[in-house]
Amino acid sequence: MVSALIISLLFIFSNPFPSVHSDAAPEPSPSTNNICIIGSGIAGSTVAHFLRHYSDDPSFPTINGIRIFERHRIVGGRMATVSIGGDTFEAGASILHPKNYHASNFTKSLNLRIKEPSSDSSDSSLGIWDGTQFVFKTIPLNPNSPLYNKIVSMANSLLIFFRYGFSLFKMQSFVDNTVGCFLKYYTDLDSRPVFETVDEMLKWSGLYRLTRRTLQEELVDAGLSPRIISELVTVITRINYGQSVAISGLAGAVSLAGSDAGLWSVGGGNWQIAAGLINSSDVTLHLNEEIESITHLGDYYELNSTKGISYACEVTVVATPLDELNIQFHPPILIPERKLQHTHTTFMRGLLNPAYFGLRSVSEIPELVGTVEAPDLPFSSISILKKYTEEDMAHKIFSRKPLTDALLDQIFSARKETIRIDWGAYPHFTAPEVFAPFVLDGLHLYYVNAFENAASTIETGAVAAENVARLILSRLSSRTTSSSTNLQNSASGGESLHFEL
Ligand SMILES: *[C@@H]1O[C@H](CO)[C@@H](O)[C@H](O)[C@H]1NC(C)=O
Ligand SMILES: *[C@@H]1O[C@H](CO)[C@@H](O)[C@H](O)[C@H]1NC(C)=O
Ligand SMILES: *[C@@H]1O[C@H](CO)[C@@H](O)[C@H](O)[C@H]1NC(C)=O
Repeated sequence: MVSALIISLLFIFSNPFPSVHSDAAPEPSPSTNNICIIGSGIAGSTVAHFLRHYSDDPSFPTINGIRIFERHRIVGGRMATVSIGGDTFEAGASILHPKNYHASNFTKSLNLRIKEPSSDSSDSSLGIWDGTQFVFKTIPLNPNSPLYNKIVSMANSLLIFFRYGFSLFKMQSFVDNTVGCFLKYYTDLDSRPVFETVDEMLKWSGLYRLTRRTLQEELVDAGLSPRIISELVTVITRINYGQSVAISGLAGAVSLAGSDAGLWSVGGGNWQIAAGLINSSDVTLHLNEEIESITHLGDYYELNSTKGISYACEVTVVATPLDELNIQFHPPILIPERKLQHTHTTFMRGLLNPAYFGLRSVSEIPELVGTVEAPDLPFSSISILKKYTEEDMAHKIFSRKPLTDALLDQIFSARKETIRIDWGAYPHFTAPEVFAPFVLDGLHLYYVNAFENAASTIETGAVAAENVARLILSRLSSRTTSSSTNLQNSASGGESLHFEL
């Protein structure tokens, strides 16, 4: 249990974009199906993968070109790594759950290496800091003594049990029930509909009601004690989503699942999933190229990029959060307002200062310092990523605001290297959530990240993307068979228009 509760440095990103070729292709003929995807993270790369995979079936229209536009110079979106002191660490979406089946299938089929959390991170000691003291601390393990560690692990489980009691089991069953509903998204295509809206998709699996109320409300109803909610649960939501227990019950359950046992990541970086899917899906990748406008022109969309090039696309897929982008849509589209939560991730090679925590020696500082909601607490968590020597370690700090040098000089007694990243990391979750549609204009303009305010992880990005790929193919089929160029017809038509995928 202890190890389960620890290092849930998840994060859950899934965004995207890349760039490099530049052969404009205007005036397509109506029979070609050129698909343009904006964003090269998990959502964009997974849409490309499943478009190729499912369109093997001859009953579907042929997909001609697939282009992916990425505004940055690398693919992967919010799956990204950082190098500090010669080592590579996940800087964004960092961990995957054992039941993240798309991610694990991709990892296997792309011959990537599955990395289990290193034993020193999964067994790291945990402390819950309230700004003035540790309200709870586990006993640290000793890397040289397996027997001692067995005893300490048991003692730590007992310590946690004494503090939180049976609420621990209620929390686990809340998470297990939610994961159980989510698994329905892996059932076979015959028994799983193609979803036109996020609401429909969530209702079908039984997850929708968890987006109506806050995590706190759900957990109180499930019988959890106020103490576990304000301490352990809060620690985890602050680490994984930078937010309090006022997030929706669904985002909260997903966040708590990020402290289950058996978490993993891709050796060398999770971004390689996106890179591998793009490489294997016959995609033309445009790195360093941002789309500025999307104009609907009869049978196709004209996408204008920052390189002054126009692209003609029968289908356009937005696979990045629109919340902070400035794409001009003609005609304009209307989606519910949503805010991104910014998480400042600071990587620091150096040494923590025990005095800041009212302790005498560095060895007394827990390897994972989680925090409760307290007004002046300047950070959400501090974790030790790697120990080089007793006086030189790599750390990762999450905070809602940038950390000043002055503050870092109080928290650390020695600083060798500091790297700061400001992520528009995930939506600012609320309850009840209001979702944008998957089909933005009723025609062939799609939005994968409409799903992201249900929950934001690598796997939820992949699950939403798989559905959008099916939706595109089924709507293209119904357009072809209605042998009409009147897109309006296939637009808002019901399920009946959809071919079974
Ligand atoms: C993952 O791969 C296995 C084996 O090929 C397959 O049975 C399963 O359906 C796949 N899962 C998903 C979610 O694609
Ligand atoms: C791209 O895919 C090909 C096979 O389709 C493989 O040989 C190559 O190593 C892949 N490249 C990368 C960078 O993954
Ligand atoms: C996109 O580019 C084309 C060709 O340069 C131009 O005619 C069109 O006005 C541009 N669209 C927008 C919305 O700027």
